[in-house]
Amino acid sequence: MTTLDVRADMFDAPLPPMPADAPFDFDVAIVGLGYVGLPTALAYHASGSRVLALDASSRRLRTIAARGADLIGSDRERLDAALRAPAGFRLTGDVRELARAAAVVVCVPTPVDDRQVPDLVALRAACATVVAAARPGQLVMLTSTTYVGCTRDLVEKPLQDRGLRIGQDVFVTFSAERIDPGNVGFAQEVVPRVVGGATPQCEEEGARLLSRYAAQVHRVSSLATAEMTKLLENTFRAVNIALANEFADICGALDVPVTEVIEAASTKPYGFMAFYPGPGVGGHCIPCDPHYLLWQLKALHVDAGVITEAMTRIAARPRRVVERIRDVLGRAGKSTLNARILVVGVAYKPDVADLRESPALEIIDLLIDLGAEVQFVDTHAPRIRLASGRERESLTDPAAFRADVVLVHTRHHDSDLGWLDGNTVVVDGTYRSGDIAGRVLL
Ligand SMILES: NC(=O)c1ccc[n+]([C@@H]2O[C@H](COP(=O)([O-])OP(=O)(O)OC[C@H]3O[C@@H](n4cnc5c(N)ncnc54)[C@H](O)[C@@H]3O)[C@@H](O)[C@H]2O)c1
Repeated sequence: MTTLDVRADMFDAPLPPMPADAPFDFDVAIVGLGYVGLPTALAYHASGSRVLALDASSRRLRTIAARGADLIGSDRERLDAALRAPAGFRLTGDVRELARAAAVVVCVPTPVDDRQVPDLVALRAACATVVAAARPGQLVMLTSTTYVGCTRDLVEKPLQDRGLRIGQDVFVTFSAERIDPGNVGFAQEVVPRVVGGATPQCEEEGARLLSRYAAQVHRVSSLATAEMTKLLENTFRAVNIALANEFADICGALDVPVTEVIEAASTKPYGFMAFYPGPGVGGHCIPCDPHYLLWQLKALHVDAGVITEAMTRIAARPRRVVERIRDVLGRAGKSTLNARILVVGVAYKPDVADLRESPALEIIDLLIDLGAEVQFVDTHAPRIRLASGRERESLTDPAAFRADVVLVHTRHHDSDLGWLDGNTVVVDGTYRSGDIAGRVLL
């Protein structure tokens, strides 16, 4: 086991070594304190649980300790309260401390690489650490989105190899996180959790842990069912977003307002769920999760044509945005060469600073490659680094940039577009900025 690169004196004094049969000091340890793990740790703490909050990154731990993490208001208050109550909330980078927690929840990133192949480096490392630290009586719960069979491969089998009996000595469960960062409408407590266990006793223990803060726990019969449930949820969203984008293009060709169509269809109380078109998808879920399924299916030679096509279309969406901007400029007798283009909102969705996989980054790089001068404004993300290595900072005076075209990519609730003078051409990548005069839809 390694001690991670975190000075113990940054947080609390190091704890003394613990005898093997010592009682657990913490009800739950969260491994990975990112967009999902930190709010989860805070939800457990708010429910009265004693929480060990562990991250491999000392920088991340420092950011959290300095109250600098990107959180919604209620979670910021929870973090304040947690940091003021160190007995029930301990930030650490020392993996040896995991043995002090009755339950260990793994919540590390599961991205894909440049070829859309699952990158399991963080998850493998975290699981290996948790397995090595496990001791009798502990529950291990994987919450990172992953392929079907992963909990068995990375947790259940290695624990068995250590001689621990699953469902008797240790308990193995999977329950994907469903948190929607930045969304104040769905507190973690009100979103039902799905849990599957390696054995019925594991499932029981997993449900008991989740019930500490989740109002509703839905049990399924196996780890694999729980893993696949998350893949269905996010694949469902990906396919429907691809369909919404296609409908936007179809409506554009037929000169029908797509948003009005979607809102009208939404009045049907069954059999329809509204998805809106946009400039592409970003974040750590929709661009990545379906690839965990596709990767696995490819190895098994199982066809998944609908999902494959949806993901291909989604990946192509930023190029479609660039084409649209070229059209708009062309109609004004301009080309992208030396055009001044301003992007409003570069985060992948409203009210977060998260830039991961944000379509805005690809769009900006593509436009600069075409010779445009591109700047951005974003109240949550002050600076960006593009895949090309180019860097930009959010403008403080967007009106002074005198853009030929403004692309509205993401609208945070605190975005102020009052500086738009009504003469600028605005391309509405959100399809829902009807309040902006003179906009054209993507
Ligand atoms: N972001 C979302 O909207 C969302 C929603 C639901 C589920 N998920 C899933 O939750 C998981 C985590 O996503 P996220 O967005 O919170 O990721 P993130 O990148 O924001 O945070 C992950 C954290 O894990 C830490 N970490 C990495 N390896 C570690 C290790 N070996 N030991 C300890 N800490 C380690 C990193 O330092 C980082 O702070 C992913 O599987 C994701 O698919 C994400």
